[in-house]
Amino acid sequence: TPVPTFDLVIAGASGDLALRKLFPALAHRVAEGVIPRDSRVIGLVRSHDPGDGLMRTVEARLQEEGLSRAQAEAFMPHLEFVRTDVTNPESMTALNERLGPPDRVRAFYLATPPQLFAPASRALAGAGLLDGEARLILEKPLGKDLASAKAINEAVAEVLPERRTYRIDHYLGKETVQNLLVLRFANTLFERSWSQRDIDHVQITVAETVGLEKRADYYDGVGALRDMVQNHVLQLLCLFAIEPPNTLDADAVRDEKVRVLRALRPIHGADVLQRTVRGQYVRGSSNGQAVPGYAEELGRASGTETFAALRCDLDTWRWAGVPIYLRTGKRMGARYSEIAVTFKSVPHSIFGGDRRDGLAPNRLVIRLQPNDGVQMHLMMKVPGSGRLQLVPRTLDLRYDTAFNERTPDAYERLLTDVIRGDQTLFMRRDEVETAWGFVDPIIGGWRDYYATPHRYPAGTAGPSQAVGLIERDGRSWSEPE
Ligand code: BG6
Repeated sequence: TPVPTFDLVIAGASGDLALRKLFPALAHRVAEGVIPRDSRVIGLVRSHDPGDGLMRTVEARLQEEGLSRAQAEAFMPHLEFVRTDVTNPESMTALNERLGPPDRVRAFYLATPPQLFAPASRALAGAGLLDGEARLILEKPLGKDLASAKAINEAVAEVLPERRTYRIDHYLGKETVQNLLVLRFANTLFERSWSQRDIDHVQITVAETVGLEKRADYYDGVGALRDMVQNHVLQLLCLFAIEPPNTLDADAVRDEKVRVLRALRPIHGADVLQRTVRGQYVRGSSNGQAVPGYAEELGRASGTETFAALRCDLDTWRWAGVPIYLRTGKRMGARYSEIAVTFKSVPHSIFGGDRRDGLAPNRLVIRLQPNDGVQMHLMMKVPGSGRLQLVPRTLDLRYDTAFNERTPDAYERLLTDVIRGDQTLFMRRDEVETAWGFVDPIIGGWRDYYATPHRYPAGTAGPSQAVGLIERDGRSWSEPE
């Protein structure tokens, strides 16, 4: 579908997200010739004087993010900055004057802290800027609990219908995440065994090597559960577990995802002690370099978790008895995100009485990053005419060798989807709220049962208690290969 001419207004345009992700994503789209020539990106800055300095910063950042000089230069004519306080109705006049004719697609991206979502959407609406078919894009986090998320959603709903509200979870824009639906619903092979009949358990890991990254103001008091599990990790769980939607239509997919979230068995009260583990990194090493602990980076002691592991259960016919273990953390040993599906062992081994134990169960690993791809672990016979020997071997499909195309960044896809008006990869209000409804009681349980985070040295796989969480069920975490 072609991208129509647009005005994309970005509030928070001198922030990290805009510089690191949004402008590079748009510049890649310009380089690919997807963006119509007179489309404009209007960055709103609150305090700086949006002079040439900021333009030069953007141009330099584009090159740091891998665009060539010519590509960076080609993007710059699309960009302009306006000094505007997006929460102040009076400063909207300046913005209004910069916008092109109302017949082009207008989208307003609030790449700002969530406290600004309600006042900014009111101010935009008050100036008539959300009239017609204008779209509003909300960056995560959408609140910090169910109550604040509802308050934001209410305020937005007062000025804009749901079909023009785009809530970002950038994991949904990742190629491999979209490929999950293709893998499941374009291949009969997997879908037929995608249930408790054949699957023993599932592990979803999003491990990062970065630490606090100067984001103390945001991160401390939020923590891994709210920052990663409530959104990205639960979205992966949803796409893994959904029933087949009847089309790829936005609401067909999102209806099914909400059903998964509703089927999550609640974790509350003392359950947290059995089914969750919190961790916080202490001094250790990352990529061979000594790094400080979280509290040292922060400059004070903190009860915020930088690691969370959970055992989840879905109370449905399809998934009864199939635990889904979730794990995410900062400053872990390696950066990798994957969904690892372990199938049940064969019911009977023909290879000798107690040889069943020697048969590793099949595993399907959907790797999101790095080295995106799909791996299938199978049992094979070792070649040779001697004693029959079986070993596990891997069918390995890597995106970078299977395709010549460049893998676009998540925001490239998401931004053009907004302009095209496709909501499939954005979170609907009920999804966000149901996910908070699952997460809030866990946080309450942590508080009521004094579940302070267990320490883990930076550069490791998290606290040993997380190993206990899965080993208690007779299973173990899969490590990156
Ligand atoms: C963000 C979180 O949503 O996702 C960050 O706020 C995290 O804490 C980031 O580092 C991870 O994204 P990616 O695409 O690098 O896996």
